[in-house]
Amino acid sequence: MNFNRVAPYFERLEKIVFNKQMQRCRTAFISNLPPVKKIALVGEGNGQFLLELIQQSDCEQIHYIDSSQTMLELAQKRVQRFSKDAPSRVQFHLCDLSVQEMPDQNYDLVVTNFFLDVFDKPLLNKCILKIAASCKTNAVWLYADFQISGGIIQRIRALAWVKMMYLFFKFVAQLQTQKLLDPAEMLENQGFKLKELREFNRGLMRAELRQRDINPR
Ligand SMILES: C[S@@+](CC[C@H](N)C(=O)[O-])C[C@H]1O[C@@H](n2cnc3c(N)ncnc32)[C@H](O)[C@@H]1O
Repeated sequence: MNFNRVAPYFERLEKIVFNKQMQRCRTAFISNLPPVKKIALVGEGNGQFLLELIQQSDCEQIHYIDSSQTMLELAQKRVQRFSKDAPSRVQFHLCDLSVQEMPDQNYDLVVTNFFLDVFDKPLLNKCILKIAASCKTNAVWLYADFQISGGIIQRIRALAWVKMMYLFFKFVAQLQTQKLLDPAEMLENQGFKLKELREFNRGLMRAELRQRDINPR
């Protein structure tokens, strides 16, 4: 799997297809975050969420994590264009979480926007375990992704969209899975309980704010 080829077109494509809905979904809970000291943005891509976070949070340690060199460079340029000082708050890590460990530990907040949907079940479980293990006891997890839910018409519409997107990413990014999995149970098993949920684009996307209880199952 490699997002380098599609990276330069990702934002334009997203806006043509979904207008501002993906960004609304990513940033749904950005203004209700508790004060945090250390944040990991995993599979952050071209840095659209990162820039919003820099503008809305004064957190001094933000770790950008992605396996695509092109995505990482796009995110770096976006941050540099915004401000000369902002990059000092961000560490950029080129890291393939399917084979490497998280670059650091003790995160208060982890963010996975449209990232967990790229994995099959074993890899999804492995990545969630790695991310969860890098978090502090009461960490917050912001999750945004596509979903198949709702009534029959809504589900058929979502299935059609998801099928098309997976086919597209199979060709442009060699995506290995063709099935959208719901990570809710795996997140719950790691103690991350659902606190808030919002849906976008007639239920095609959902944003969740989860927080870990002190005693995970
Ligand atoms: C669908 S894109 C989403 C990007 C961004 N979070 C967003 O909301 O637009 C998935 C991102 O995950 C990254 N990615 C895929 N597999 C990865 C892995 N094993 N480890 C780290 N990043 C990965 C890709 O390079 C890509 O930037």
